[in-house]
Amino acid sequence: MQHIEQPTIVTVKEVIKESSNFKTFVLDYPLDAKPGQFLMVWLPGVDSKPFSVAWQKENEFAIGVIKVGPYTKELFKLKKGDKLGFTGPYGTSYNFEDKKKILILGGGSGIASVTYLAQRARENNIEVDFLIAAKDKKSIVYEKWLEDQGINVIHRFKKNNHERAWDMFKELSSNNYDSWYACGPELLLKKIVDLSIEKKTKCQVSLERYMKCGIGVCGSCCVDPLGICLCQAGPVVNATFANNISEFGEYYRDGSGAKVNFK
Ligand SMILES: Cc1cc2nc3c(=O)[nH]c(=O)nc-3n(C[C@H](O)[C@H](O)[C@H](O)COP(=O)(O)OP(=O)(O)OC[C@H]3O[C@@H](n4cnc5c(N)ncnc54)[C@H](O)[C@@H]3O)c2cc1C
Ligand code: FES
Repeated sequence: MQHIEQPTIVTVKEVIKESSNFKTFVLDYPLDAKPGQFLMVWLPGVDSKPFSVAWQKENEFAIGVIKVGPYTKELFKLKKGDKLGFTGPYGTSYNFEDKKKILILGGGSGIASVTYLAQRARENNIEVDFLIAAKDKKSIVYEKWLEDQGINVIHRFKKNNHERAWDMFKELSSNNYDSWYACGPELLLKKIVDLSIEKKTKCQVSLERYMKCGIGVCGSCCVDPLGICLCQAGPVVNATFANNISEFGEYYRDGSGAKVNFK
């Protein structure tokens, strides 16, 4: 368990509209986070919610946010020069440093977590194939940003490919990758984990559970049957760990603790 810390207050340096409901907030601070870690982002008078680091440079970093409800609606009102707070970075990170060629899947809000992984992997001269899972062409974000880092970006709307992300992932997975990484819709993550166990390929996924404190105090992110807090033991876990979570791909708990089924 970590200690409660005072939020660090930072200035919004830039707001980039990536799509109709996805914005990148560039924040003026020399963060020292590892790929896969998250922050509890505090909007005074609103709430504090978990967001992954989307990329990080020497004196600034970014979070990538999808507008889904009351908190993110308020966050979307922020403009250049506004301030917000954060605590963290928290949680586990992706292991990638010793790899030569990796396959990444990012989908929905999960794309932010693996975008930072892709950035660091390229800085370590690792070859990266990055599959974006998106329901429509307008939801594709970070394509140019990733390509500018020398990453091979693949998605179903390139060359009018109609295959779904899972079919494309299966096809790609027969290439010789040292490891797979994924963050996105949980039912897709479950299929990837099952395939990695079947094929004995190294794989890490980042899992989202309802997080209120981020430091192992409130218990809202505990998973069945392990009773382990994912804000501490996750969000990044390997395939074997994910496979031991009986609720993985089945259900999660909302803010009140009630079960919500994925299917
Ligand atoms: C480790 C982690 C990293 C995340 N990284 C990102 C990111 O990089 N970009 C991004 O857009 N989103 C990310 N999320 C999800 C983000 O925290 C929620 O979308 C946000 O809190 C929604 O708040 P809301 O009030 O706008 O929506 P609500 O209407 O409250 O909820 C919309 C959805 O978000 C989920 N949610 C709400 N509050 C939380 C919470 N405290 N913890 C987890 N899930 C919650 C709900 O279960 C629901 O599915 C991450 C979540 C986790 C756990
Ligand atoms: S978010 Fe409170 S214990 Fe994990």
